[in-house]
Amino acid sequence: MNFQEISRTRRSINFFDPDKKVSQPLIRQMVELASASPSSFNLQPWNLMVLDDTDEKEKLKALAWDQPKVVEAPVVMIVLADMNGWQEGHPGFEKTWEEMVKSGMPEAKRTWFLDAARSLYDWIPEANLAFAAKNAGFFAMSLMYAATSLGLETHPMDGFDHEGVKKGFNIPENYWLPLLLAVGYKKPDLELQPPKWRKSFEDIVVSF
Ligand SMILES: Cc1cc2nc3c(=O)[nH]c(=O)nc-3n(C[C@H](O)[C@H](O)[C@H](O)COP(=O)(O)O)c2cc1C
Repeated sequence: MNFQEISRTRRSINFFDPDKKVSQPLIRQMVELASASPSSFNLQPWNLMVLDDTDEKEKLKALAWDQPKVVEAPVVMIVLADMNGWQEGHPGFEKTWEEMVKSGMPEAKRTWFLDAARSLYDWIPEANLAFAAKNAGFFAMSLMYAATSLGLETHPMDGFDHEGVKKGFNIPENYWLPLLLAVGYKKPDLELQPPKWRKSFEDIVVSF
């Protein structure tokens, strides 16, 4: 599938085949494809919880507006956006720095890197949330396109109790949850509605 086909084929699927499981290798492939997403300074401030256990999915469904797809989809991912991913001492930050040095960045530039990250992600209280959300959002989009390219269907959801999910699944404070992502195969014989409307080029491109 080329990108034009992937872009046209991807749809948010409401009704999954609960009997058709997604193999672990396929989930791994999907995540590995999405891991090529770009991110600020290549900090990759994202993680995933991958739920396939029915009890866990039932627990999540109760916190996600009771959306049936949370249980019907064989796999549901909780996308995690790490608001601390730019901070000194964070494993992601330190790994990124280590790789930068390996690629030729002089060690003396560390202060520059720290200051640059602080100036971008610590200038207002919301900046670290924006950092996490935009980067994890790109990753989530890549997950959806990767899934489509592998013949899987997805459905993103922000209809859930953010604090309830964090508490119910013991998710540490540094994470914000941009969305849940149902993954699976569509119900046999499901007739899809026509694609939803989209803004035109003229609607999208503005000047001020
Ligand atoms: C961040 C995000 C959150 C969404 N949350 C929900 C949701 O909670 N429940 C739902 O049924 N659809 C949800 N959707 C799906 C949208 O309604 C859907 O993407 C949109 O209508 C366009 O349809 P399409 O994805 O099939 O092209 C969400 C989509 C995104 C990107």
